[in-house]
Amino acid sequence: MSTHKEPRAHDTVYFEPGWSAEIVNGRTGPKANPRLAAIMKVIVRHLHAAVKEARITPDEWQVAIEFLTQTGHTCTDWRQEFILLSDVLGVSMLVDAINHQRPPGSTQNTVLGPFHVAGAPKLEMGANICLDGKGEPLCVRGRVLDTDGRPVSGATLDVWQANQDGFYDVQQPDIQPQFNLRGVFQTNESGEYWFRSVKPRWYPIPDDGPVGTLLHALDRHPNRAAHLHFIVSAPGYDTLVTHIFTPDCPYLSKDAVFGVKHSLIAKFDRVDDAPRASALGLVNPFWMVQWDFVLARKSQVVRVTS
Ligand code: BEZ
Ligand code: FE
Repeated sequence: MSTHKEPRAHDTVYFEPGWSAEIVNGRTGPKANPRLAAIMKVIVRHLHAAVKEARITPDEWQVAIEFLTQTGHTCTDWRQEFILLSDVLGVSMLVDAINHQRPPGSTQNTVLGPFHVAGAPKLEMGANICLDGKGEPLCVRGRVLDTDGRPVSGATLDVWQANQDGFYDVQQPDIQPQFNLRGVFQTNESGEYWFRSVKPRWYPIPDDGPVGTLLHALDRHPNRAAHLHFIVSAPGYDTLVTHIFTPDCPYLSKDAVFGVKHSLIAKFDRVDDAPRASALGLVNPFWMVQWDFVLARKSQVVRVTS
């Protein structure tokens, strides 16, 4: 009787292209972190399949390695090129979508982006966050509610946006005032908030690095649909990372990072009313947005597994 036993793929000592992923994954040891091991097995399987399907050449693989090296070198304290890469590949939106399924009626979330700054100034209700005086005046007002329509008092709204030239303050530290177009507000006992700003405009994501080079090589534009960013939080509620989009932006249907959701497109009313403008401390004419955020309780947000 033969004692010969066919090696199982992961027992194979030497590399074989036909079993490449199985051989690599077979090296994972019994003491590996189980979640890491599970994730890496999937990544190795798909990466090997991609190399085989696209028949990647050594020169092309070298380009990929140089691209990732450059992506790392481009990161600084305020610029995160890997987040940008994840965003333009749609991965940021996908990770968010499979991890947060909000109950019906609650405000949908969207991509955080790399320009949030922790510790922006806490401002009084009605404050104007535009410190550089550029752009069309805007008043944003509304409420923070729970899914039963009850006001959430003491909710925190952290807001930030790009300026009229299409840059965040952190991208132009020598040009824009610090904390230009940023502020943190709290809802009153009726769940209300309001602040003054300028109407956001579309802008290109930073495209002077490797991610920009990739977009241009793929004949993709780098532009984000015009938006204001918000992080809305309150004790007991799932923190909401979201945007409000302007309805008249040409990039709504082709946002560079796939961040637009129909339910986040707000109504921006142009108001030409000098007494009202002056009562609000704005130059006439101005834009007005009425926008309510609906928070889900932590227990209402479920993880989607497939
Ligand atoms: C942003 O909206 O700030 C943003 C989002 C993703 C990538 C780059 C910028
Ligand atoms: Fe943005």
